[in-house]
Amino acid sequence: MRGIILAGGSGTRLRPITGVTSKQLLPVYNKPMIYYPLSVLMHAGIREILIISNPRFLDTYRELLGDGRWLGLEFSYAGQPHPAGIADALRIGRDFAGQEDIGLILGDNIFYSTGLPSLLRSERDRLAGCTLFGYPVTDPERYGIAELDEDGAIRALTEKPEKPASNLAVTGLYFYDNEALSLVSRLTPSSRGELEITDLNRLYVEQGRARLVNLGRGSAWFDTGTHDSLLDAATFVQLIEKRQGIRISCIEEIAYRMGFIDAEQLHRIGRRLGDATDYGQYVRSLVGT
Ligand code: TTP
Repeated sequence: MRGIILAGGSGTRLRPITGVTSKQLLPVYNKPMIYYPLSVLMHAGIREILIISNPRFLDTYRELLGDGRWLGLEFSYAGQPHPAGIADALRIGRDFAGQEDIGLILGDNIFYSTGLPSLLRSERDRLAGCTLFGYPVTDPERYGIAELDEDGAIRALTEKPEKPASNLAVTGLYFYDNEALSLVSRLTPSSRGELEITDLNRLYVEQGRARLVNLGRGSAWFDTGTHDSLLDAATFVQLIEKRQGIRISCIEEIAYRMGFIDAEQLHRIGRRLGDATDYGQYVRSLVGT
């Protein structure tokens, strides 16, 4: 499976902060926002990753993340000049994906849950069609909602329903088989001029090949699109990290634990980070420096 992080968009709900920078470069507590979705793909065992953003900011992403080798990964970059929709990521990523399955994640989505890494790997292995990840919310009328049948197969997907048939919001993480690349070429832009990811997912629902995994209790999902949700996410990360002494979405640690880099490489990263921050000290402590 190859990964795509969609980190474009206009960030209108975060103005004026997003006037001169890309939303997904903003900090969420102690690390850039894009570290969080990147960590999800890494946990799924995905090592080849395409980062899509507005061409204005691509150089900054390149400066931040490089070619990925320092994490045992391989990054590619592509521009999306206008927010032409989430499904547009699959059109942009067609050559990158080649014949492989695709794990697509939105650059402003944060997931945290024990057991998530093994869940992601098992879902990746059993993928047949498309797999969506649902999260129970108290205000389903604000989200894309999935209605399931008794076996957990998706019966219908509705955007911001007035009378929600369930409380399961569809999050910004999607696993697709390679057929998504041809299905996306059948889509036409919606009234807001975007290739809608829900339209793509509905094609899989019609074929009976769409599955939803409920992330359920004991997990946290944030999208960081507004001032308040950005602060909420940062506060959550700070709380867990301070209480437990662990780090959420520390990509250097994940690369090491997943075996993408060895102790020597982590040691070098730790030296570069220095010990002026808790983050640097944490990474250094993993290899005993
Ligand atoms: P949104 O939150 O729907 O849009 P946005 O980020 O532009 O913010 P706002 O609504 O405040 O203007 O997008 C969800 C995620 O998907 C976000 O990470 C941006 C990304 N995205 C793209 O990269 N390209 C797109 O064409 C769209 C629609 C979204």
